[in-house]
Amino acid sequence: MAIQTEKSVSQLRCIGCGETALADRFRCEHCRDLLEIIYPGWEERGPGGLDAASLKQLWLDRRSSFDAADQSGVWRFREILPEISQEQVITIREGNTPLYALPHCAKSAGMKQLFAKHQGMNPTGSFKDTGMTVAASFARQAGYRWVACASTGNTSASMAAYAARGGLHSLVLIPDGKISWSKLSQSLDYGAITCQLKTDFDGCVRVLNEVVERMPVYLLNSVNPYRVEGQKTVAFELLEQLAWEPPDHIIVPGGNLANSSAIGKALREMKQLGFVSRLPKISVIQAEGANPLVRTIRETGGEKLVPVQADTMATAIRIGNPASWKKALRVIRETEGTVEQVSEVEIAMAKAEIGAEGIGCEPASAVTLAGLKKLVKQGFAKPGEMVVLVLTGHALKDADFTLKFHRGDLFTGTPHEQESKILKPLQRSPLVLEPSVDAVVELLRSAEK
Ligand code: F0G
Repeated sequence: MAIQTEKSVSQLRCIGCGETALADRFRCEHCRDLLEIIYPGWEERGPGGLDAASLKQLWLDRRSSFDAADQSGVWRFREILPEISQEQVITIREGNTPLYALPHCAKSAGMKQLFAKHQGMNPTGSFKDTGMTVAASFARQAGYRWVACASTGNTSASMAAYAARGGLHSLVLIPDGKISWSKLSQSLDYGAITCQLKTDFDGCVRVLNEVVERMPVYLLNSVNPYRVEGQKTVAFELLEQLAWEPPDHIIVPGGNLANSSAIGKALREMKQLGFVSRLPKISVIQAEGANPLVRTIRETGGEKLVPVQADTMATAIRIGNPASWKKALRVIRETEGTVEQVSEVEIAMAKAEIGAEGIGCEPASAVTLAGLKKLVKQGFAKPGEMVVLVLTGHALKDADFTLKFHRGDLFTGTPHEQESKILKPLQRSPLVLEPSVDAVVELLRSAEK
């Protein structure tokens, strides 16, 4: 029997001045800080009027339902999301992603065991779908006809898909030549108007922020607090997969810093609601060439953002001026996590190691393993601890990177050429042979030796 739960009453609150009587926009009209969604009714009644034990059972029961919203790994947790009328929900059955053991990567990082929550197994191949289903649905409910985002490729692919499914038009601004072809092809395929601007991601954000002021277009970048609410559900799902026993560490790649903020918000809420009694440490890993959060913490103690001119082959996180840095900083402090940066060669090695487990991910996701190796060396993560890496994008998101890696020319002509020689044992260049049985048999024999 379906349980009827109470409506969740949500409110927008500014993360800076704490003001709550705010218009439904993306920044506070008083201090210009970002907004977050809060649920004042939870303190007295619990989400949906239910306690933690009843919610855990309800969410699990929905996994055997054929209802579209129940089949979504986001909407099955709808009691912890803002209220929406069911017919406005746009879902492509996002979420419900696997948690994989990575035994070889564990060994390489010096850990006894290691797990990956693979958000690349979402419908458009990245974690963005979990936030997009919520924000796109609210765009439709609010009556918008157009949605838009600036993107390094995954947000745009996801937004284009959800807009198409929901009968909305979409506008994509991406940095010209700096995103992978597969991501670009997705937004074309799903019917978005796709503009390659001759600037970087941060430049695209600047242009779009002005466009949405002038036109009735709904902004679907991660400053949109509804995206963060959807992205929260990955943490609920992960804890469900771990029988509600929190891991010691969750390690997340850092770009615009919404994902770490969302996972942290989820855990804060889980503790508040009595789902868990302690919090995992949430650590954020950035590429050395796109490290504004690392610099902000190391150089200013987190007082002031240090923007950088970003450059990394992990194009998804090629971001120098992250919007959600204050939210992410709060999460790192609250959970006693840390930040770390990793080199291009370290990213490439970690990506190959995750690939060799038969799992694979895109380069930006691999910073998590590269970062963990450093955290283990520093003693921040202990070999016997339980660590979960959040893999944010699918291996097919950047096949170009993978091919170049295995052919051995990823770093040709770059300052990393010398250092990249250590990658040789991981490279599996494709072999060209005569179409002869003997040649293939000979090859197999030599491979067995
Ligand atoms: N990993 C992948 C695969 C991403 O696409 C992104 C961000 C991140 C990690 C970083 O997440 O921004 O929440 O810290 N991609 C955005 C985009 C910016 O436009 O697709 P974050």
